[in-house]
Amino acid sequence: MLKGKHIVLGITGSIAAYKAAYLLRLLVKKGAEVQVVMTPAAKEFITPVTLSPLSGKPVVSEFFAANDGQWHSHVDLGLWADNMLITTYLSMKAPVFVSPAMDLDMYKHPSTQANLKLLQTYGNHIIEPGFGELASGLEGKGRMEESEAIVAYLENYFAKSADMKGEKVLITAGPTYEKIDPVRFIGNYSSGKMAYALAEVCAQRGAEVYLVSGPVALETPAGNIHRIDMESAEEMYQACIEHFPSCQTAILCAAVADYRVAEISDNKIKREESGELCLHLLPNKDIAAALGERKQPSQYLLGFALETHNESQHAEAKLRRKNLDAIVLNSLQDQGAGFRHDTNKVSILSAEERLDFPLKTKKEVASDIIDYILKNRKNK
Ligand code: PMT
Repeated sequence: MLKGKHIVLGITGSIAAYKAAYLLRLLVKKGAEVQVVMTPAAKEFITPVTLSPLSGKPVVSEFFAANDGQWHSHVDLGLWADNMLITTYLSMKAPVFVSPAMDLDMYKHPSTQANLKLLQTYGNHIIEPGFGELASGLEGKGRMEESEAIVAYLENYFAKSADMKGEKVLITAGPTYEKIDPVRFIGNYSSGKMAYALAEVCAQRGAEVYLVSGPVALETPAGNIHRIDMESAEEMYQACIEHFPSCQTAILCAAVADYRVAEISDNKIKREESGELCLHLLPNKDIAAALGERKQPSQYLLGFALETHNESQHAEAKLRRKNLDAIVLNSLQDQGAGFRHDTNKVSILSAEERLDFPLKTKKEVASDIIDYILKNRKNK
């Protein structure tokens, strides 16, 4: 998996920097071409003289080569940062993996944890440190992950980065807005985060994604993603009916309004002195059920269920009624689950089984869901 890959191994100042030599050796043995970039502080812990022969390349650390004064950086931004590793990171287009090492209390500190979360929101992958004896003599979490485990993590990442290659996936996202008049609508709290995480993971794994999205304030994730924006349930229905036949998988994550207003007012509705205002609502089409009817044996259809009570019962009923292959249940009873959070806590239900997952980031939940689909589709 790592053969022929171009890897930048960035090393920062830490006692764990010595482990980089062994990691570098393993990466090279696996066939990767590795360029080491060190911060000045890293050189206090391990020298370029050790690393350069292992990678077969001069280590990059300074903006200007000491011998001839030649500029190393190809990045204009480089002039504004204080070391080469930062400029390399800021201009990096490839996936970035961060393997932190820190003493127990420093690692646990909320500011460290907040910064790791921030790094994750930029799409970086955090390789969690392990438990054990630390350089300070304390025991706990903070040891930089062992080189073999880092290599295994990378191999797993690259194996997965191709496991949806050549396939088309339809994903519905966000809320729908059902117009009342030119200034008001019926909507819900869906932010689109869960669906966009699914789109990001599918694209990272090589799929071509049709992201049918209600109104959300999110950037389209990188990759082969066709984003189709709309507002109402009817518009979402039309887009799904159009794209479903060419997709192998459909993931229906949108929170679709079940009702729309029978007559949309052309003008802003004015407050009446008489008091009450009644809206006449009509049922919207059920997109999931419509795709369930049209589903071919080769297609996999996964829905979501957001519940507040009798969760399993309601999710199981939707699974059957809409002819889904599986349904992802999230409950508003669980802290950190459902609308707007960066995390979710889900169970995956099918006719055969139920899997319960702990609270995770929406990106991790998305990976679990895709792993589940790929495994179970084979058994279909
Ligand atoms: O967007 P976030 O803030 O990240 O929040 C994520 C989420 C809570 C919206 C998401 O995890 C989720 O649960 N989405 C489905 C929410 C929902 O409204 O479920 P439901 O139980 O009403 O619908 C069941 C299934 O039928 C869903 O797959 C839904 O997309 C689909 N459906 C529902 C109604 C309809 N008219 N057409 C549909 O296709």
